[in-house]
Amino acid sequence: MKVLNLGSINIDYIYKLNHFVAPGETISANSLEINPGGKGLNQSVAMANAGLNVYHAGLVGVNDSEFLINTLQKYNVNTDLISKIPSQTGHAIIQVTQSGENSIILFKGANHEVDKNYIDNVLSQFNAGDYCVLQNEISNIGYIIQQAHSKGIKIVLNPSPCNNSIMSCELKNIDIFILNEVEGRQITGKTDSLEILNELHSRYPHAKIVLTLGAKGSIYKDSSCEVSCGIYKADILDTTAAGDTFTGYFLYGLFSNMPIKDVLEMASRAAAIAVSRQGAAKSIPLRSELEPINS
Ligand code: RIB
Repeated sequence: MKVLNLGSINIDYIYKLNHFVAPGETISANSLEINPGGKGLNQSVAMANAGLNVYHAGLVGVNDSEFLINTLQKYNVNTDLISKIPSQTGHAIIQVTQSGENSIILFKGANHEVDKNYIDNVLSQFNAGDYCVLQNEISNIGYIIQQAHSKGIKIVLNPSPCNNSIMSCELKNIDIFILNEVEGRQITGKTDSLEILNELHSRYPHAKIVLTLGAKGSIYKDSSCEVSCGIYKADILDTTAAGDTFTGYFLYGLFSNMPIKDVLEMASRAAAIAVSRQGAAKSIPLRSELEPINS
């Protein structure tokens, strides 16, 4: 079984601030860091740090992206399917407050030049039974889902950020959903977390569903079980990529056939370490840092 992550690659500009900029306000940042990021790249790093062999596919600009590809390679992610195009690499402007909260502006850049030809080429390298991991920071997500499903490739969807392009996808073809309450609300129209979970399960009864609940932990549901898990306490420095870390570690645990309770605990522990560190990809721990849950 091979794991493909067809996802975004961003340059993150992280500004540390005393508070988020208000409308009409101008404030000075306390610091600026320029780091590799993007939900796609972060999730590939998390899966690789957990112990999976991952193929990352996606598009970047010709002139500004070498350090991003080097970063993925440093974390042992296979980058052979990434293409450079005459465009600007996607980037994110991230405000981080003193309490570690963030707010993000995305510039789509090359991430939104992912077209059907590129997708067909990438998917031609994978077969039935392989997995394709998706977020919602690249173009043509609906087409990827359609084509991957028709080839028998299993699809993992983290519908983040959730918008109309997600709502127009054939979500019945998703094998694994990993989403937070905001995304769950947008997809189901329900507000209560259990109602969101039950609504997703009744719409997509064959899917495995993980709903993350912020400080309240996470819940997993499939056709045979429902399991919940709390969070690990951490001194929060920067919450950026906490969800990506959870996703990568969850998939590692699931693909390794660990008991679901242990999978959720491991993913929560990894996310707790990530929030105690600054940055996105670089905050994601190695599995050896997760003792004692380190099978
Ligand atoms: O999930 C965190 C990521 O969201 C950041 O790295 C940023 O690039 C945005 O895509």
